[in-house]
Order: sequence, then C-alpha cells, then structure tokens
Amino acid sequence: MQYRKFEKLGIECSVFGIGCMRLPLLRNPDGSTSYEKIDESEAIRMIRHGIDNGVNYLDTAYGYHGGNSERLVGKAIKDGYREKIRLATKLPVWLAKSYEDFDRLLNEQLARLETDYVDFYLLHSLNKNSWEKVRDMGVLDWLDKTAADGRIRYPGFSFHDEFPVFRDIIDSYDWKMCQIQLNILDDNYQAGVKGLKYAASKGIPVVVMEPLRGGKLASAPPDIMELWNQAGSSRSPVEWAFRWLYNFPEIKVILSGVSTMEQLQDNIRIFGKALPNCLSRDELDLVRKVKERYESKTKVDCTSCEYCMPCPNGVSIPGIFSIWNDSSIFGMTDGHLNRYNKLISDEKDASRCIECGECETACPQSIDIIHKLKEADGALREV
Ligand SMILES: NC(=O)c1ccc[n+]([C@@H]2O[C@H](COP(=O)([O-])OP(=O)(O)OC[C@H]3O[C@@H](n4cnc5c(N)ncnc54)[C@H](OP(=O)(O)O)[C@@H]3O)[C@@H](O)[C@H]2O)c1
Repeated sequence: MQYRKFEKLGIECSVFGIGCMRLPLLRNPDGSTSYEKIDESEAIRMIRHGIDNGVNYLDTAYGYHGGNSERLVGKAIKDGYREKIRLATKLPVWLAKSYEDFDRLLNEQLARLETDYVDFYLLHSLNKNSWEKVRDMGVLDWLDKTAADGRIRYPGFSFHDEFPVFRDIIDSYDWKMCQIQLNILDDNYQAGVKGLKYAASKGIPVVVMEPLRGGKLASAPPDIMELWNQAGSSRSPVEWAFRWLYNFPEIKVILSGVSTMEQLQDNIRIFGKALPNCLSRDELDLVRKVKERYESKTKVDCTSCEYCMPCPNGVSIPGIFSIWNDSSIFGMTDGHLNRYNKLISDEKDASRCIECGECETACPQSIDIIHKLKEADGALREV
C-alpha cells in the first residue's frame, strides 16, 4: 500500500480508502437483496482484511445502508482496529433543522460507531442551497467547538455542485479536507480537476469519491477495451481509472466502495503501486481518447444542473437524460429499464411532457429538451 501525507495535519493515509457505501449484502430467499441488509460477517471480514493489508482510511456516512453502515463500521473497528485507522463520517445536513441538531446527530453517530471521536467529519454532499442553509445556521462555529471538545478531529465537507460554489465553500473556512467526485469522465464536472487544483493551492487535502463512476467504469465495452489494449499492457479498466487518479499528487485518498473480497484484493494490489506522476504522455493521451470515445456515445449534454426543474408536469428531466446517457455509454441493461419503469410508475417519465417549453427557456446548455425527451422515451420504454 502506498501512503500520502496530509502535510498540514501531520498524518499520512493510505491512497486507497474503503468507501462503506457499497458493502456486501445478504441475499433474500428469492435471491434479491435489500440495501439496508448488509452481510455483516463478510463486510467485517473485508474491512479487517483491508486494514491488515495497509488500508487506514474508512469512509462512511449517516445514511449509508439505511444507517447500518455506521453500525457495521463500529463493529468492524473493534478488537484494536479503531486505533489503526482514520475514520471519516458525515453530517446529514438535510436532517439538521436547528443548531442543536448538529450535536444530536453527531452524538447519535458516535454511539452507532461505538467511538468517542471521528477523525474526519464532513458536511455531507454540500451544494449551494445546503451550504448556505447550514452556514447560516452556524455550522462553522459548531465545527470549531466540536473540534475543540475532541469529538471530531478534522472538519471537512463533501461536494456535489458547480465549481464556483466549491470555490466559495473552500474560501469560507479553514477546512482540514474536502471530498470531491472525480474520475476519467468527470474531470470537468462539478469541482473537477479545477477544484482539485484550487483546493490544493490552498493547502486543503483532497479525497476522491466515485473513482469508477460508481462501478460503471469497471467493465468496458469492446470498443473501449480495444483502446485500452493499445497501450500494450494488461491493465484492467479499473486499474486505468485508478491510475489516472493517483497520478495526481494533489489527491491524498481515493475511496472506492467494494462489494466483494475479490474487488478489495484487486484494489489493494493496484494501490500497492500508486505513485504520483506515474503516467507517461502517451498514457495520458490514451486516457483522453478513451474519454472521447465514451463521450461520443453521450445522447444529450445534460449536466444535471436542474435549472429546468421543477417541471410543471412533474417530468424528471435530468433523471431521464441520465438514464438515457448511461444506457448509451455503458450499454443498455435491465437496471436502466428498471430505473425508467420506476419513473413511469411515479408519473415522472418523458411521456408526461406537455411541451410547455419552460424547461428549454431555463436550460443553460440550450438543449432541445422537448425533442430529446421524446427520443429518450422511445429508447427506454419497453415494448
Ligand atoms: N459524500 C458523498 O456525497 C459521496 C457520494 C458518493 C460516494 N461517496 C463515498 O465515496 C466512496 C467511493 O465511491 P463509490 O463507492 O461510488 O466508488 P467507485 O469506485 O466509483 O464505485 C464502487 C463500485 O465499483 C465497483 N468496483 C470497485 N472495485 C472494483 C474492482 N477492483 N473490480 C471491479 N469492480 C470494482 C463495485 O461495483 P459493484 O458493486 O457493482 O460490483 C463497487 O461497488 C463511497 O463508497 C462512499 O463512501 C460519498
């Protein structure tokens, strides 16, 4: 395992951190799984195997696995494992209605985790609205007090919005870390590489989430695989995706959720060689070509900014475009059809569009939404 220094904090963490949002699940008698029902013994075995093999960063959150991720992590880090790791969890800012709620939620989390303190405590999934809400409720003052009383060590935040919002948040407080979504397809999305460099320029350590786009980059369609193979190496798409990230010296930890022991072992192997500045110019070119190939399959250039929402007739516009793009880029699966069927049953599918055009006026990307919704409906509706 390779480690990187959080210079200002005087600590170092493993470049690979286990994201406890996608833990192995128990099978119901009919073979299905429920997100809340973690396979506890396997998850504990995997987390401890990770720690025994050099992983020292665990990331969880109040809401993962319906609250059971924190409870599971609490069990996994007993028997001496707590002292071996840096533990990150997150304040569910959407549940905080008053200043007192910050304390109430953190204390509940400490009880679930069966620990007296968390190392990294993040305001979860900040965007413009949630940031302004908790800032105005006094969360920064509360973070200072909580760091002083020892229940948290390093205040941070995770982020899902546009770069200007990220810059505003970064500039507003003495953050000890931040967490952003980054992968070969999202280099220019949300905070992006620009955000990574900006945070680093301010001395704020960056942790990356969704390095495989939630697993979608793990298996490449044949044309993409052909491109990867041009490098003449035996690297898997997973290894390429991680390698592109650990090439950045500014990235301190790359979180990946692992749902099987094989994935965990594969990642431990890959991160054994995770050196910064390891990619040659040719390899960077290859990653660019792969990204372009993926992007050429994009059906609609929707960035999910949600300016078009709410639709007066309830159509889930960015949701539909996301399913349509995913099914084109990564190949149509039952998962995509199921997601669209759910929108149909919730009366949020594209056929509900009444062509009022409000969305098109609001769209900063000038997308011909009405026409694209029709196309999406044709592609996603099962015959
Ligand atoms: N703060 C936030 O707002 C936020 C948001 C998202 C994530 N997070 C955190 O960031 C962590 C990382 O994000 P992520 O879980 O989306 O990471 P990711 O690496 O993009 O996706 C994880 C998925 O990739 C697949 N995978 C991982 N390693 C693999 C391997 N070696 N071979 C094949 N497939 C592999 C698995 O998919 P399958 O299970 O389908 O096989 C796994 O569940 C999360 O677990 C969570 O802790 C935070």
